[in-house]
Amino acid sequence: MNHVLTAKQYTKETLEELFTLTDDIKNNPQKYAKTLDGKIVAVMFYEPSTRTRLSFETAALRLGGQVISTENASANSSGKKGETLEDTVKVLQGYADAIVIRHSSDTWPQDAIKVAQVPILNAGAGKGEHPTQALLDVYTIREHRKTLDGVKVAILGDLLNGRTIHSLLRLVSLYNNVEVYGLSKECFALPQEYIDMLNAREIEYKKCNNFDDIPKDVDILYHTRIQSERFEGDFGKEEYIINKEVLNKFSENTIVLHPLPRNEEIATDIDDDPRAMYFKQAHNGLYVRMALFVQALSK
Ligand code: CP
Repeated sequence: MNHVLTAKQYTKETLEELFTLTDDIKNNPQKYAKTLDGKIVAVMFYEPSTRTRLSFETAALRLGGQVISTENASANSSGKKGETLEDTVKVLQGYADAIVIRHSSDTWPQDAIKVAQVPILNAGAGKGEHPTQALLDVYTIREHRKTLDGVKVAILGDLLNGRTIHSLLRLVSLYNNVEVYGLSKECFALPQEYIDMLNAREIEYKKCNNFDDIPKDVDILYHTRIQSERFEGDFGKEEYIINKEVLNKFSENTIVLHPLPRNEEIATDIDDDPRAMYFKQAHNGLYVRMALFVQALSK
C-alpha cells in the first residue's frame, strides 16, 4: 500500500519516479483530471494549516476526487471526546479511499499504520516529520538546479522543533556530495540524531555562527519559523533574518526557500527578488500532492 509516512521510506530512485510524475501532472493537468473519479479522500487536521490542508484538498479535487474534511479536528472531531487516532482511522477507512492526517504526536504514523487498510498520508507529525513538505522542497530544488547531487544547503531557524527540516535532511542526504550548513540560535540547534544521520551518509554537518560562515555560493538558504507552539517559555525572536542586505551577499544562483508561514525571519523586502522562491515552493506542493494521490490511489 502506498502510504506516505516518513522521508525515510524514499530512495533517490523513488524520488525521481515521483518527480517525473509530478512534472507530467504540472505540464498536462487535463490528462489527470479524472484519475480519482469515484474516490473519496478524508482529511483530518488536528493542528492549524493553510498550505498543506488546502493543497491536499485541491489536489484531490483537481484529480476528480471528492473530499471529506475537518477544519479543526482537535476541537471538532471525536478526538476531543478521547477517541484514539487508531479508532478514528478504523472508522474513516470505511468511508474514504485514503486518509490525510496532521497531528501533534511525533509518532502517530507508527500507530495509524497498525490498523490502516487504506493509504495514510502524513501531513505533519508533531516536531518529528513533515515528509510531503520535504518532497515539495526537493522537487523545487530539482526544478531550480536539475539535480541535488553536489547541492550546498544552509538550514536556518528552528532546527530543533522544525519537522520540515528533519524530513528535508533525510531526503537531501540521499544525494551525492551534499554539503549541509546550519545557522540557528543555540536553543534551537539541530538534534544530534540528525547530525548522526548525516554523518552516517558521509555528510559533515557544518555549524555556523553567523551568515559569513555560510559559503557565498550556497545553493539553498532554507529558513524556518521558530515553532513557538512546541515549547513553553519565551526564547526571543529570530536573530538571523534574511533581508535584501543579507541576500545580496550571496550568489545570484542562491535561492531562498521556506515552508511558510513565515514570521520575521524573512523580510518582505526580498519577496520580489527572483531568488525568493517560497511562494513558488508552496505552489509546487499542489503538484507533488497530486502525484502522491495518483501513486496512492490509481491502479
Ligand atoms: N508548510 C506548511 O506545513 O504550512 P501549513 O502549516 O500552512 O500547512
